[in-house]
Amino acid sequence: MNSESLLNIDDYHRAARARLPKDVLDYYEGGALDEITLRENTAGWERLKLYYHVLAGVGTRDLSTTILGQSISLPIGIAPMAFQKLACAAGEIATANAAKSVGTLFILSSFSNTAMESVLPQAASPRWFQLYVYKDRAITEELVHRAEAAGAEAIVVTADAPGLGTRERDMRNSFRLPDDLALENLVPLGKGNFPKVTGSALAAYVRENFKSDLKFEDLDWLCGCTRLPIIVKGVCRGDDARRAAEHGAKAVVVSNHGGRQLDTAPATCEALSAVAAAVGDLCEIYVDGGIRRGSDVLKAIALGARAVLLGRPILWGLCVGGAQGATDVLEILRRELDEAMLLCGCTELGDINRSLLAP
Ligand code: FNR
Ligand code: LAC
Repeated sequence: MNSESLLNIDDYHRAARARLPKDVLDYYEGGALDEITLRENTAGWERLKLYYHVLAGVGTRDLSTTILGQSISLPIGIAPMAFQKLACAAGEIATANAAKSVGTLFILSSFSNTAMESVLPQAASPRWFQLYVYKDRAITEELVHRAEAAGAEAIVVTADAPGLGTRERDMRNSFRLPDDLALENLVPLGKGNFPKVTGSALAAYVRENFKSDLKFEDLDWLCGCTRLPIIVKGVCRGDDARRAAEHGAKAVVVSNHGGRQLDTAPATCEALSAVAAAVGDLCEIYVDGGIRRGSDVLKAIALGARAVLLGRPILWGLCVGGAQGATDVLEILRRELDEAMLLCGCTELGDINRSLLAP
């Protein structure tokens, strides 16, 4: 496919689908059980309609904003995603470079195929580290302190995965990493490889290692063990989001892990308003899941998000064209958001509000 025909995120998805081996595509693309939440994430944004303003005198648009006080050139950051060397040889380094070239947030997964000590120093600000909490507190603490030393500016703790949602595609494919790839951040801690099992080796690894009784006291502990701000990722309810803020979180991410954890959890567009109402000004709110058009970003902001995170579209970009491919994906969404703002009568992100979603 030549670059001329890659006009939108769906084009990148199709191009990636033609290039990736089946087991990797299924791991990247798939969700939990019947994949209802996975489908609803995208369908939910599509269903929302925009009641645009006319004659609003919009000139040049300003898409820039801040997250936790750090500037970004557009309200679209990169979600933490595991195993990016399955998409392209440069893996997480390519993703960090894409974020740098568009001027936005990069979040490195605990499960990167490149060690944080190699990725974070090359990444521009804002650069955050996503944390999985291990049963062994010493391992968790070591990850946090290494991330801090490597230049991470915040810790994003993933709260929606006390265990791994069952992904039947991965079970059928016996999903595992090829021999030359590892969970590089965990190699020095003796946890860098999946167990040898049939079925999903990732699921077996998570069962063996993740703290399944994760609770708010763990959040308190985490806030006490680092000077970095903590962001709680994976909330879908107002009460939990508020409690997270009261326990020290500086931001929450409304997320259902891209439909990969609890199937039939609500689409994130459905969960967002209640979270915004409950949290008020206590902390910042971001959202991810199913964002595929610039108009989805505008809708997310209208519902109360400060910024969105992009998951799979970045993987499709990496697969098609490495760092440049991921950059192109972000630039497509920048152009689409800019156009949606023009056509809605919004000059800056602060002009986007709920009235655009109801007459
Ligand atoms: C993820 N996600 C994820 N989240 C997290 O906190 N740590 C992780 O390591 C991963 N790994 C991961 C791998 C893959 C292949 C995918 C698709 C997703 C979830 C991710 O951060 C984000 O919440 C969703 O991907 C957002 O939904 P969309 O944009 O993919 O629809
Ligand atoms: C996933 C985990 C690793 O969604 O976050 O595959």
